[in-house]
Amino acid sequence: MVKLMLLSLVVVFLAVWIGERYTALRDTLLVFREITPNHLPNCQLIKDINIGSEDITVLEDRLAFISTGVKYPGIPRYTDAPGKILVLNLLTGTDPTELRIKGDFDADSFGPHGISLYTNEADGCRYLFVLNHPHNNCQVEIFRFVEEDLTLVHIKTIKHELLHNMNDIVAVGVENFYATNDHYFIGERLQLLEVLFSLAWCDVVYYSPEEVRVVATGFFNANGINVSPDKRHLYVSDLMHHQIVVLEIQTNNSLSRVKEVAVGSLCDNIEVESKTGDLWMGCHPNGIKFFLQNVNDPPGSEVIRVQNIHSDKPVVTQVYADDGSVLLASSVATPFRGKLLIGSVYHKALMCDLE
Ligand SMILES: *[C@@H]1O[C@H](CO)[C@@H](O)[C@H](O)[C@H]1NC(C)=O
Repeated sequence: MVKLMLLSLVVVFLAVWIGERYTALRDTLLVFREITPNHLPNCQLIKDINIGSEDITVLEDRLAFISTGVKYPGIPRYTDAPGKILVLNLLTGTDPTELRIKGDFDADSFGPHGISLYTNEADGCRYLFVLNHPHNNCQVEIFRFVEEDLTLVHIKTIKHELLHNMNDIVAVGVENFYATNDHYFIGERLQLLEVLFSLAWCDVVYYSPEEVRVVATGFFNANGINVSPDKRHLYVSDLMHHQIVVLEIQTNNSLSRVKEVAVGSLCDNIEVESKTGDLWMGCHPNGIKFFLQNVNDPPGSEVIRVQNIHSDKPVVTQVYADDGSVLLASSVATPFRGKLLIGSVYHKALMCDLE
């Protein structure tokens, strides 16, 4: 009798727990969200981009750096073809050039993910920081960009146990950066538990040659990261919480959380428009479609802009949306001179007019 009662209790508990988890996951992954297309005029595909344009960063409103061929567990169309960094002259067209890599670097296993540019004001040198996943590793490559001959000179590789599941990076010095970890655990099975139990255990790590430490926690998949034009704040996409977290940079490089802004989508990389301070994100409108990758019910794309993020009333606008018939899984968007360049995790890249 007692055994039977205990068994019923366990069954009831499990049923309630499964119901609760089902609801939580449905809401986290925006399972039932359907996208109504909200297209922009005059969209053109960027030539020869077919295996992704996961991250894009723009130099002086004229050159766009594009990372293509990310190697990351769970990403379809995974290819052994080496990834590349492309550069697109925004003033002249849609035909990007591959940057040649010089120095002691294994280009065959290159799998570039998040990227960030840093200009050293002292000597004008430009550095491209690239998250790289060669052979399932997780590391940062620092290159010096030489514009005259379109090359990246490899300077160093950085690995650290705190930098275990990096997704995106923002450079704040010649060898200094903040990076997000999009999982707490290492290994796909444990990472699945993070989703099943809604564990918001991801963090942001500060790296300099002198110190490496966790500077912000509590993210449910810390994803895109970028810095405000005045370099005083960082913005982090708390992807599974559908929000952008605003953090203030302290003098000792620690971060203090200022606020969160809800965006209603699973936002990936963040670009910050230098003139206005507006945030532009490439987002995944439906998380389950992103994970399932069903060709008959593909993941769509969504671009969201946040204006006046530091005011009491930030304005969150959907700028572009597609149901997957044009672009699968948008991951980044950056405006320039009345146009919008949109990248994707493993698909194509699109340039559209904004008006
Ligand atoms: C950094 O500075 C803040 C106050 O500005 C302080 O609360 C924090 O403990 C400092 N962190 C470290 C690691 O020194």
